Amino acid sequence: MSDVVFDKVKEVLEEVETAQPQTTEEVEQFRIRFLGSKNIIKPLFGEIRNVPNDQKKAYGQYVNSVKQAAEAKYTELKANAEAAADAASAQDIDLTAPADPIGIGSRHPVSITMNRMIDIFTRIGFTVAEDREIEDDWHNFTAMNTPEDHPARDMQDTFYLRNSTEMLLRTHTSSVQSRVMKRQQPPIRIIAPGRVYRNETISARSHCQFHQVEGLYVDENVSFADLKQTLLYFAKEMYGPETKIRLRPSFFPFTEPSAEMDVYMGTDDEKSYRLTKGTGWLEVLGCGMVDPAVLDNCGIDSEKYSGFAFGIGIERSAMQFYDISDIRWLFENDVRFLQQFASAW
Ligand code: PHE
Repeated sequence: MSDVVFDKVKEVLEEVETAQPQTTEEVEQFRIRFLGSKNIIKPLFGEIRNVPNDQKKAYGQYVNSVKQAAEAKYTELKANAEAAADAASAQDIDLTAPADPIGIGSRHPVSITMNRMIDIFTRIGFTVAEDREIEDDWHNFTAMNTPEDHPARDMQDTFYLRNSTEMLLRTHTSSVQSRVMKRQQPPIRIIAPGRVYRNETISARSHCQFHQVEGLYVDENVSFADLKQTLLYFAKEMYGPETKIRLRPSFFPFTEPSAEMDVYMGTDDEKSYRLTKGTGWLEVLGCGMVDPAVLDNCGIDSEKYSGFAFGIGIERSAMQFYDISDIRWLFENDVRFLQQFASAW
């Protein structure tokens, strides 16, 4: 009797070994027959009742080996069938078909405007200096001769880091002036483009983040005339060779004397009228002669050296160039807005 039972197992094993399913469908039939919930190996385990005690162990192992053989074969068959299916579908790919277009993105209008400014100043010997946006109080304010009770330090204007009176988001790129002067002796001729932050109410004309290009020139005998000529050169390169500028007296803690520069846009078209609030003049930067106290704070001999500095706002020029009426467009990252600048410069 037990021989008959062993023979049945042998038959199934032979069937497993000789089966040659090819297609995915045939492989699936193989799985159902030998490994499915009603597979033909299962009943063989039940037959162990009819096996004499001294052969039960051998019988159990025999049936088990059939099951393992079926499993191993199935794994292999499945992998082969899948590879074959992949190869077949690869042949369906039309390699000559044109590819789907990939959006390649474009420069942001603020970057385009900033890069133009960088370009203009590097042509006359300024090099680019960049530094951190999270700054300490000393580099942003104290070194820049901004006394502790100055309104610019007010929580209203400055974003301080949580639980800190020391660390803040820089309110101007003038912080890079102190960084550079601390580590380098004159001659210094740098521009520092970058993002700045102020705690301001967001509206069509102002935002809590914007960009500036800072300029700093320190050497022996640097005069206000050098400053004015440099800015005139910049204005003509940026806004056109006929551009007129005017310098209005102003105040900054870190420059003395200080001025603001306006560029004449005229009032002929509605856009210029709106942008200049009817005056024709667009304010584009603050500037002045570096206050000797700032030089001393940063370890530069103010008896020997003098310098000028300026800080240009980028957004206003970008809005003027591209006829953008609301500053918020520049920070919303709406692709429909941004892709309009795909071919600009
Ligand atoms: N830091 C000033 C501002 O943010 C601009 C400025 C820079 C003025 C350098 C003078 C010199 O408004």
